[in-house]
Amino acid sequence: MIDGKTKVYGLIGNPVEHTMSPLIHNTIAEQLGEPMVYVPFPVERGKAGEAVAGAKALSIQGLNVTVPFKSEVIPYLNGLDGIARRIGAVNTLVAEGDGYRGYNTDMPGLLRAMHSDGFGVENRDVMILGAGGAARAVAYLCAENGAKQVFLLNRTLGKAQEIAVEINAFCEKELIRPMLLSEWEKIPGDGFLAVQATSVGLYPNVNDTVIEDRGFYKKLEAGYDLIYRPWKTKFMKLVEQEDGSAFNGLKMLLYQAVIAYELWNRTQVPESLSEAVYLRMRKEWESNEA
Ligand code: ATR
Repeated sequence: MIDGKTKVYGLIGNPVEHTMSPLIHNTIAEQLGEPMVYVPFPVERGKAGEAVAGAKALSIQGLNVTVPFKSEVIPYLNGLDGIARRIGAVNTLVAEGDGYRGYNTDMPGLLRAMHSDGFGVENRDVMILGAGGAARAVAYLCAENGAKQVFLLNRTLGKAQEIAVEINAFCEKELIRPMLLSEWEKIPGDGFLAVQATSVGLYPNVNDTVIEDRGFYKKLEAGYDLIYRPWKTKFMKLVEQEDGSAFNGLKMLLYQAVIAYELWNRTQVPESLSEAVYLRMRKEWESNEA
């Protein structure tokens, strides 16, 4: 029931037609009896500032932010949470004073997804594939959550080196070791947790992956692909072929939303509810695939 007391939340992005965020937030709100509604708002490119001002004028309580506005929105905010500031990208706005404060729940979302699968980066040897915005954020996640060592592998060495310099300065040790993807054989040991943070393998290029060699996958205990379309990427198939555990990015999508919901409503979403929402997301995902 929407009435005069219903709080409005939403998503700004372009495009937003295929978002699963309304399903997640509206299901949680319904189950917890919270009088709120969550709607997608398509925003024209270049209009992040107008969208933020307009949302505030309409007393919208909070927003998620997606492509292409995650960095563009920053100048229009009242302040930034530490993680968002370091990553340089915001995905959640929380009403504060006469505007909004920016947060990034994508990386905490990935960490919570890992924990729900029985993994994590704490005291672990990690490999990150890629050195774009997503990979850089994962590298910060490792630095902030006590990873033991992190190999950052990229096609372009310079980009991996830049991230390593920045994050090693942040954590005041040589945590991040930049390498070329083709140099993976130089990495000693096994039992790694790997995060696939490039766009390679994304639909429709479902047979692509940045490293094909089976020897690489023998080094992994678990592999996370940030992609969830296709459901099982080539990277994930290769991880599983060598008896590793493989996960896609759908749970990260769930938990970034759960954490945003918790920030907005100052509450804790019960794990059983998150799991129920995940099953609904999978159903929705499968019906879209069919
Ligand atoms: P995002 O913000 O999603 O991380 P991005 O910043 O454009 O996206 O980064 C894309 C990543 O995918 C980069 O690490 C890129 O490698 P380069 O730095 O060498 O460009 C990687 N990538 C994209 N296409 C690739 C390919 N065909 N082979 C290997 N890596 C690729």
